[in-house]
Amino acid sequence: MTVFALIIINKAGGLVYNRTFYEGGLQKISTNDLLVLAGTFHGVHAITSRLSPVKPAQAQAQATPPTQQPPGLLTRPEPPSGLEVLETENFRLQCFNTMTGTKFLLFTDTTQANVDVVMRRVYEMYSDYVMKNPFYQLEMPIRCDMFDRKLSSYIREINNR
Ligand SMILES: *[C@@H]1O[C@H](CO)[C@@H](O)[C@H](O)[C@H]1NC(C)=O
Repeated sequence: MTVFALIIINKAGGLVYNRTFYEGGLQKISTNDLLVLAGTFHGVHAITSRLSPVKPAQAQAQATPPTQQPPGLLTRPEPPSGLEVLETENFRLQCFNTMTGTKFLLFTDTTQANVDVVMRRVYEMYSDYVMKNPFYQLEMPIRCDMFDRKLSSYIREINNR
């Protein structure tokens, strides 16, 4: 089981972090291609989140005029979720989209289990070492030593298992 790489995309679709954990995993792509990947994924994610199927309950609520709706049946719709997983024969890309629209893209091999757990831990580290860093400017490239170090040691542990 191997975690190959992580990239973080800001809410405008710009690449703010890229990191390879395992040399000899994914082929290197050029800086330009990496930026294109970030922007493209961002766009596809936005479109797929608009494609969410209408839930039966929601469709019914829309069909009933508001005045005739029984009280208590108005539920808040689920927030739409866009593209979450992209899989090829050789790797898997899992996306986690935060409430503010920052996206974490984790590249792993196709047999990696518990990607959710790994993602969660990465997000925790981001909250602790990037968000709480007073010198970090939101939406800008992430250059935080602590984040780099904690991330490295956590992923190394997984990759050496
Ligand atoms: C990828 O990360 C390296 C090291 O942090 C950085 O120097 C480089 O500019 C980044 N590449 C892009 C396209 O952001």
